[in-house]
Amino acid sequence: MLFTTIMKSDFKDKIYLTMINYWSWWWDVDNEGDELACTILTILVLVLSLLWYKWTGWFTKGGRIRLPPGPYGLPVFGYLPFLSHQLHERFTEISHRYGPIFSLRLGSKFHVVVSSVDLAKVVTREFDRTFANRSPPVAALTITYGGLDIAWSNNNAYWRNMRKLLVSQVLSNANLDACQGFRTTEVRKTISNVYARMGTPVDINEIGFDTELNVVTSMLWGRSSISGDFFDGFREVEFKIIALLTAPNISDFIPVLSWFDLQGRNREMQKQREHLDRILDHIIEDRIETNSRKTEDAAEDDGRKDFLQIMLELKDQKDASTSFDIVQIKALLFDILTASTDTTSTMVEWVMAEILNNLGVKTKIHEELTEVVGMDIVEESHLHKLKYLDAVVKETFRVHPPLPLLIQRSPDETCMVGGYTIPKGSIVYINAWAIQHDPKNWTNPLEFKPERFLNGKWDYSGTNINFLPFGSGRRICPGVPLGEKMLMYILASLLHSFEWILPKDEEFELSDEFGFVTKKTKPLVAIPFQRLSDATLYE
Ligand code: HEM
Repeated sequence: MLFTTIMKSDFKDKIYLTMINYWSWWWDVDNEGDELACTILTILVLVLSLLWYKWTGWFTKGGRIRLPPGPYGLPVFGYLPFLSHQLHERFTEISHRYGPIFSLRLGSKFHVVVSSVDLAKVVTREFDRTFANRSPPVAALTITYGGLDIAWSNNNAYWRNMRKLLVSQVLSNANLDACQGFRTTEVRKTISNVYARMGTPVDINEIGFDTELNVVTSMLWGRSSISGDFFDGFREVEFKIIALLTAPNISDFIPVLSWFDLQGRNREMQKQREHLDRILDHIIEDRIETNSRKTEDAAEDDGRKDFLQIMLELKDQKDASTSFDIVQIKALLFDILTASTDTTSTMVEWVMAEILNNLGVKTKIHEELTEVVGMDIVEESHLHKLKYLDAVVKETFRVHPPLPLLIQRSPDETCMVGGYTIPKGSIVYINAWAIQHDPKNWTNPLEFKPERFLNGKWDYSGTNINFLPFGSGRRICPGVPLGEKMLMYILASLLHSFEWILPKDEEFELSDEFGFVTKKTKPLVAIPFQRLSDATLYE
C-alpha cells in the first residue's frame, strides 16, 4: 500500500517536473490542491490523446475507409494550433511532406487540400457536380443574410437562378458592350484625379478600388457610388469583411461553441452588415420611390434597364423560381460589389508592383503602348492589341493569385479522389498557389517572366488547370469578362498617362499576406508624373 502510494507520488512528480519545463503557464500553481488538479487534468489530456490517435488510426489504417494522409493534431482542436497565418504557403509545405492530397482535422471539421493538376482536375471535372457545395463559415453566413448570395450558396436551384441572372443581365457580352460608356467615364475620371495629385504619393489599390466600384455601381443602379456621402467608408467596411472572413473562428471548427461567439467575430460581422444594410436599403428605397413617381415607360428612359430595376421587377413576379425578395436582392448586390472590387484593386496593385520592380518589363510595356496608342489617350479598342501587357497581367496572376485557395468546396456525397475517401461534407481546398508555383508545371516558377504567356494559348477559363486564378468548373468566377477588361483598361491607362516612381524614403518589397483575398503586405504607394505632352488629355 505504502509502495503504491510512493509510486503514485513519484509518477505524479515525474509528470509534474517534465511538464513544468514545457508548459509552465499550465503548471504555474502555488498549492497542493491545484497541483493535484493539474496532474489529473494532464493525465486526462494524455488519455484522450491516446484515444484520439487510436480512433483516427482505426479509420486511416486498419480501416474501413482510407482517408488522405496528413499530420496528427491535438484532441478536440486537431491541427488548428499548428497552422500559421500564411495558409497557402503552410498548405504547400504540408503537401511536400504528405503528397498532392492531404487531410487535416481542424476542430471537428475534416479538411482536405488538393495541390496537384491531376487531382484538381478530378475535383473540378470528374466530380465537379459532387464538389459544388460550399460549407460557408459562420461569418460568411452572417454577411450574406444566411448564404443568400451566389458565392456561398450551395449547388441548388436558387444558386443556379442567381448565377444565371448575373451572367445574363450584367456580365453578358451585350450588356458589357452597352456599359462601355461607364467604363470610359470612370477610367477618365481616375486619370484626371491622379493628374491633380501628380508629384505626390498615391495609394495604387485605392485608385483601382474606386474606379472598379464606380463602374460596377453604375452597371448595377446607374450611378457611380462615390457621389453620395452614404457610400463613404465602403472600402474600409469591405476590408473589415474580408479580414473577418479570413480570421480563424473557433465557432467554425467547434460548432457547439458558436452560440458563445467566443472571439466576437460574429458580432463584429453583424456590425459590418448593419453598415452595409444602411447603404443598400438607401439605394433600394430610393429606387422604389423613384419608380412609384414615374410611369413604367419613364423608368426605362434610355431603353435599358439596370440590374437593380430588373431585380425589383422580378421581386413582384408570381413564379417562385424567378422571384426574389428584398433580402435576396441585397445579398446579390453585396456579392457583386465585394467580388469585383477587392479582387480587381488587389490585382492592379500587384501588377503595378511587379512592373515597378522590373524596369525591363516597364520599358517593354511603354514601347507597346506607344506603338498601339501613340501619344493619345487609351481607348478600350486598343486593349486587345496590348499582347505584352496581357502577358504581364497573366504572369502576375500566376505568381500572386488573389484567391490562392480559391473558395472552399464541399462534396454532397462521399467519393474517392486519388485513391482516398473524401467523406460527404468535408471542406476541400484547391491550392491554386501551389499549382502555379510548382516546378513540375512551370520552369523556374519563382522567376517573374511574362514571356511564358506570349504564345496565346492561355486564358482564364480554367481549362488548363496549371493556371486557374479565377477557379475552374461550375463554380468558376462568372466575372472573368468584366474583371479582365477592367484590369487591362485601368492598367494601360495608368501606365500610358503617367510615369510612376517609387518614393525614395520607402523600402520596396513584394511579400504577401494571406487572406480570403491575398494582398501585398505593405500597400503600394507610387508617385505619378505627366507622360503625355498634351495636358488636355488629362481633363
Ligand atoms: C480580378 C478580378 C477577379 C478575380 C481574380 C476573381 C476570382 C474569383 C475566384 C478565384 C472565385 C472562386 C472560384 C472557385 O471557387 O473556383 C470567384 C468567384 C466569384 N466571383 Fe470572381 N473574381 C474577379 C472578379 C469578379 C467580378 C468582376 C465579379 C462580378 C461582377 C465576380 C463575381 C464572382 C462571383 C459571384 C463568384 C462566386 C461564383 C460561385 O460560387 O458560383 N468576380 N472569383
